[in-house]
Amino acid sequence: MKILVLGSGGREHALIWKLSTSKKIDKIFAIPGNGGIAELAEVVQISLQNLGEIADFAKEEEIDLTIVGPEAPLVEGIVDLFNERGLKIFGPMKEAAKLEASKVFAKRFMKKFGIPTASFEIFDDYQKAREYLKTQNYPLVIKADGLCAGKGVFVPDSLAEAEETLFNIMEKKVFSSSGDLVIIEKFIKGEEVSIIAISDGKNLIPLVSSQDHKQIYNNDKGPNTGGMGAYSPVPIAEGEIFKKTYQEILIPTINGMAELGIPFKGVLYAGIMVVNNEPFVLEFNVRLGDPETQVILPRMKSDLIEVIMAALESRLDNFEIEWHKENCIAVVLASGGYPGSYQTGKRIYGIDKIKELKNVIVFHAGTSKVTEGQDEYYVAAGGRVLNIVALGEGIKDAKNKAYQAVGLIKFDDMYYRNDISDKAFKKEGVNG
Ligand code: GLY
Repeated sequence: MKILVLGSGGREHALIWKLSTSKKIDKIFAIPGNGGIAELAEVVQISLQNLGEIADFAKEEEIDLTIVGPEAPLVEGIVDLFNERGLKIFGPMKEAAKLEASKVFAKRFMKKFGIPTASFEIFDDYQKAREYLKTQNYPLVIKADGLCAGKGVFVPDSLAEAEETLFNIMEKKVFSSSGDLVIIEKFIKGEEVSIIAISDGKNLIPLVSSQDHKQIYNNDKGPNTGGMGAYSPVPIAEGEIFKKTYQEILIPTINGMAELGIPFKGVLYAGIMVVNNEPFVLEFNVRLGDPETQVILPRMKSDLIEVIMAALESRLDNFEIEWHKENCIAVVLASGGYPGSYQTGKRIYGIDKIKELKNVIVFHAGTSKVTEGQDEYYVAAGGRVLNIVALGEGIKDAKNKAYQAVGLIKFDDMYYRNDISDKAFKKEGVNG
C-alpha cells in the first residue's frame, strides 16, 4: 500500500513511525512532514490549506489511503473532497468534524443526547452575555465557538476579568468570526484525561488512556501550550472511569451522530474531566491528540493500518486492538520562550546517542535538517521541537528512561518540564 499522512508534528512522526512497521505498507508520503519524518517518508511541500492540490497529488501518486493528523483539513472538508474524487481517506466528513469545529454544536449535541458535561449558556449578543456574567459565581469558563488554535478557552477568576475576556472575543473580535458565539459554562474542578477512540460510524474501539500536560511550567502553572508531555496509561482513568467514559460518553456520541444523519467515522478524542469519580466532557476533538499519540502508538501491538482499514470498512464490531503492557511517557523539548516568541535555527546535539538506547524513541516536532558538505544535522524550527518517548516496566521506570535520554539532548535555550507523569504517582496502587 501507498500511504499519505498529512501534518508536521510529533503526532504525525509517531503515526508514520508506527505505520512504517507494517508489512502491508510499501511507501509513505508526508505533507508537509518535518526533519524526523523525512527519515521514514518522502516529504512533499504542499500547503495543508490547499486541499485541491493535495487531492491531485493523491490521485497522481495513486495513494491507497490518506490519513489526516491535524483538525484543520477535516474541518475544511478534505474527507468530503476525497470522497467526491473517489480517493480513500480516513477521518470524519465536514459536518461530523463540527464536534471540534464548533463548541456550540458540541455542547448542544451533548445536551440533546444526555452526555455529561458542565452546564452552560450560549450567547450571540454581547450585552446579554455581559448581563449574565454579573449573575454568576467565579471562576467560570468562557469559550469562543470556533477553532482558535487552542487559545479560545478562558477561566476568569473575577467579573472584571470575565468582562474583559468577553469584550475581546465578542467586540474586539480577536478570534474573528470564531467568536461570534460564546459559551459561558460552569467551572468544574478535577483531573483531565484523554480518552481517544477509533470509530467506523456505528461501532467504536477506545485506545488506551493518556494524559496531556498542557501548561508550560511544572505543577500545571503558566500559559497553555500545545502540550508539554504525556503518559499512558493513566491510573485515574482506568477501571470504572474508563467504562463510564465508554458507555456514557463515547457510545452515546457515536449513536447520536448517526441519529442526526452525520455518522462519525474517524478518530474521536474526548477530553475528559474526572470529578468525584465521574467523567465529564470538556471538549471533543476529531483527530488524534498531540502529544497523546506519541505515548499511545508505542503501546499498540496491533498493526495500525489494520485498525484503520477495519474502521473504514465498518468492521470494528469484530475487531480487537492488542496492546503492550509497558507504560509510556513523552517529554516535549521546546524552544525557550515558547508558547510566546522564541528563536529557531539552534543546532540540536545528541539525537544519535538516543538511537542506541533500547525502548527510547525520538519523535520530531519542529525540526529541520541542515546539510553542510558532509555534515548533516537537525536544527530547532518550531516551539515544540522534539518528543523524547520511553517505554518502561511501570511509569517510574518509563519516566527515568525518558529523562535520562533527555539529558543526552542539547540545544541553546532548550526547555522542558521535569514533572511529566508525576500525577500518576499520586494515585494509590500505581504500578511504579
Ligand atoms: N493534546 C491536546 C490536543 O491534541 O488537542
